[in-house]
Amino acid sequence: MIEEFHGKTAFVTGGGSGIGLAMARSFGRAGMNVVLADIDRSAAEEAAHTLSKEQIRTHAVSCDVVDHDSLAAAAAQTLAVFGKVHVVCNNAGVAVGGEISSVSDSDWNWIIDVNLKGVVHGMKVFLPHIRNHKEGGHFINTASMAGMVSPPGMEPYCATKFAVVAMSEGWSQQLAPENIGVSVLCPGFVRTRIHESGRARQKQYGGSGEVDALGQGSSESAQAVLSGIDPDVVGARVLEAVRGGELYIFTHPGMREILAARFSAIMSAFDQAERSPALAAVKSWAPIPTVQAGDRK
Ligand SMILES: NC(=O)c1ccc[n+]([C@@H]2O[C@H](COP(=O)([O-])OP(=O)(O)OC[C@H]3O[C@@H](n4cnc5c(N)ncnc54)[C@H](O)[C@@H]3O)[C@@H](O)[C@H]2O)c1
Repeated sequence: MIEEFHGKTAFVTGGGSGIGLAMARSFGRAGMNVVLADIDRSAAEEAAHTLSKEQIRTHAVSCDVVDHDSLAAAAAQTLAVFGKVHVVCNNAGVAVGGEISSVSDSDWNWIIDVNLKGVVHGMKVFLPHIRNHKEGGHFINTASMAGMVSPPGMEPYCATKFAVVAMSEGWSQQLAPENIGVSVLCPGFVRTRIHESGRARQKQYGGSGEVDALGQGSSESAQAVLSGIDPDVVGARVLEAVRGGELYIFTHPGMREILAARFSAIMSAFDQAERSPALAAVKSWAPIPTVQAGDRK
């Protein structure tokens, strides 16, 4: 866990806009240097300029999280500027969804590569460095409430965000013995440009503007985003949660009931299994094996 933030460095993917920029602001106000890494270089530079006016030490770097080497180059640049990194926000993300037959292969590839593999790349690039400096560190992986519940029409987005929750749960246990924290950020709607994420769509996935976010450009989802909470509130909440060593970072406590309904349905399914004649003959179940930090090859 990180006790002292002052003078340390936070690296934030998707730092050019929305929640990433807000987390950077929050860590910057706590005295950290912040690196804004974004596929949109000019957005990252503009964000860095905005934060520097608040006396926050910033650096903007362009990177595409789908490409491990691009992230590794951004990390190398960060170390050249600030020496070490202690906090990594694997936050860059995009949204796409809609009726099942309307979601193309390239939609699936794009969202999985950015939202899921982008987080994996961020972990793999920075973990050796954080292990090496032995001063502790913290990863904040941005999932969503869509990583907890799956409303119809949001399956591609939810699939990636459930994965981010799952990976973060496992990694937090793996890395805790090394004084490296992992949190998973699960906001509801936040007022950002996520509904316009087609602007960051790379050529290999069809190019920018092809699809416009949740529900194929639905104005309803755009409206929900635009009436979401202020990203700076999320930034402040993240700092508080990292200080407190929280694994799940929720920002919309009013959504508790939606989650409770899902858990209750799952528990009912266990009741069914307990009463199942088909399972009656089974006397014991093998435990799920766990990996400890010491098991590392
Ligand atoms: N806004 C919401 O309501 C909401 C709710 C829950 C979770 N989230 C998540 O928050 C995260 C941040 O999104 P936001 O809402 O701030 O949206 P945003 O569109 O305002 O910001 C996303 C940033 O990520 C960058 N980006 C996109 N693809 C990238 C790539 N391949 N490599 C590097 N950078 C890339 C974009 O250029 C942009 O600056 C995402 O993971 C999103 O899924 C958003």
